[in-house]
Amino acid sequence: MSLQELNLKEEKRNVQLATGLSEDGRATISEHLNEILADHYLLMLKTHNYHWNVKGSLFKSMHDLTEDQYDNLFKAIDDIAERIRALGFDAPGSFAVYSKISKIKEARTGISALEMAADLLESHETMIRNMRETLSVASNYDDEVSVDLMTARLSYHEKAAWMWRSFIEK
Ligand SMILES: [Fe+2]
Repeated sequence: MSLQELNLKEEKRNVQLATGLSEDGRATISEHLNEILADHYLLMLKTHNYHWNVKGSLFKSMHDLTEDQYDNLFKAIDDIAERIRALGFDAPGSFAVYSKISKIKEARTGISALEMAADLLESHETMIRNMRETLSVASNYDDEVSVDLMTARLSYHEKAAWMWRSFIEK
């Protein structure tokens, strides 16, 4: 469901900017970035959940790796939200909205460390696909700043996905 359907993207929230980016471009890119922001927040929550609840012989490595990753996600959330603001729109900051627009599935309970790692891998890959699409949209509107932001995030998440893939490899 898009933010428009949620009736949260009102015209009055948009401001007139003279930065050379079209209004249509700013609105379209912002809508995509809203979903990227929601994905980041929900993946940070899931990563925290597994950091807290992991059990067994892989506890230490899983506990440490998830801590590195939720720290990174927390910093990125601010950068993405502030990019949405710089494009002239309000940044969503509510779990009700995030859970409606994000494709990241909730954390599972009672699963092993390896199942947690496989779940995190799937989430990172989902985010990578969403960010690749957002990068392409931003590129079509010549928004180099959003392209840069998505390139940096893609680089991080592709590395994170590789780590989880290696973690579960036999
Ligand atoms: Fe901790």
